[in-house]
Amino acid sequence: MKTMLAQFILALNLLQAITSRAWFLSGQAQPQVPCLFIFGDSLVDNGNNNNILTLARANYRPYGIDFTEGSSGRFTNGLTTVDVLAQLLGFRSFIPPYAAAQRSDISKGLNFASGAAGIRDETGNNLGDHYPLAQQVNHFRDTATMMTRMFRGNTTRATEYLGKCIYYMGLGSNDYLNNYFMPTMYSTSREYSPSTYSALLLQDYSRQLSEMYDLGARKMVIVGVGQIGCIPYELARNNNNRSNKKDPCNEEINKAVSIFNTGLLRMVNRFNAQLPNAKFIYLNTFESSKDVASNATAYGFNVVDKGCCGVGRNNGQITCLPFQTPCEDRSRYLFWDAFHPTEVANVIYARKAYDSSSTSEVYPMNIRRLAMA
Ligand SMILES: *[C@@H]1O[C@H](CO)[C@@H](O)[C@H](O)[C@H]1NC(C)=O
Ligand SMILES: *[C@@H]1O[C@H](CO)[C@@H](O)[C@H](O)[C@H]1NC(C)=O
Ligand SMILES: *[C@@H]1O[C@H](CO)[C@@H](O)[C@H](O)[C@H]1NC(C)=O
Repeated sequence: MKTMLAQFILALNLLQAITSRAWFLSGQAQPQVPCLFIFGDSLVDNGNNNNILTLARANYRPYGIDFTEGSSGRFTNGLTTVDVLAQLLGFRSFIPPYAAAQRSDISKGLNFASGAAGIRDETGNNLGDHYPLAQQVNHFRDTATMMTRMFRGNTTRATEYLGKCIYYMGLGSNDYLNNYFMPTMYSTSREYSPSTYSALLLQDYSRQLSEMYDLGARKMVIVGVGQIGCIPYELARNNNNRSNKKDPCNEEINKAVSIFNTGLLRMVNRFNAQLPNAKFIYLNTFESSKDVASNATAYGFNVVDKGCCGVGRNNGQITCLPFQTPCEDRSRYLFWDAFHPTEVANVIYARKAYDSSSTSEVYPMNIRRLAMA
């Protein structure tokens, strides 16, 4: 087992070596799918919030300190999970943010993700302006219309094309962190039990996904919520109030999120059974983040409870501030700031999503197989 992990880490190092600029120039092969569309929150946003009024922004140093394009608006030191995924799928450049895209970009796919966004419209309003899922889907609808024009008004052809693309759906974390578990700003935890709240989120999510299906989307990657009770922000808060000293995580949050994740898996099964040609997969990021955290040393991490950049306990009480000096050795940290993984961690998560053979991580198939399906 140790050797396998060591080989895996070697492969990761190789992968990181090719994440440099040279990657754009090498290889003429076509990507495995014609396009990749991304929906989600700050874990995958690559600049959509740069020009709006919000605290959920990352286009300042030291964000992007290890990224060839600098502080682009990505909420990490380097690449996000979807950047790595785009590379693994054979794309020769990153999928551009919708906010800065050119008309000519749309055939390769677009990134609609927005920091602070959730499934619910009000989620994240405590941080300012952003694009909730409903608006991201509206942007996709506009894109589908443009696509139809590209095919000279032939809707059949546009829909066929969109059916070959992959749709990465990474939402839900903020519906807990910046809604349900923020009772001073939101009333949802007083109105709903965790299971009722989860049912409401799933109802809303299903409706939006059905709309995307109607527009032509078929290959959907539904990303579960990670172990957000264990991010530095929660560790810092929980430190004040630890009934169980062995477990620094906020298990109330982890439990609520697990209910939602179980529902996501059921939803994926339902869509696959009911919608013709639907190919939905579920990424169990909760399981993947648990694996990485509990096998941290084997994965090459020696700091798993602190952000590399941040302020206060666990570097998790206040997020990474403009021009703050981050930790030296970014490759040893699991978390970049109070909320977001480092590039190295993102590479691991992307690799698992693309290639894992464990159905407890990717269900019922991984993204490599989804691309061929
Ligand atoms: C639209 O494209 C389909 C599939 O390529 C083709 O069969 C059909 O004839 C086209 N329709 C029109 C009106 O051109
Ligand atoms: C400590 O945690 C318990 C259980 O989660 C909770 O009921 C209590 O209100 C918390 N106390 C403080 C001071 O946050
Ligand atoms: C840690 O790694 C071992 C060996 O790969 C694996 O069996 C175990 O499930 C991992 N731990 C978690 C919590 O995933």
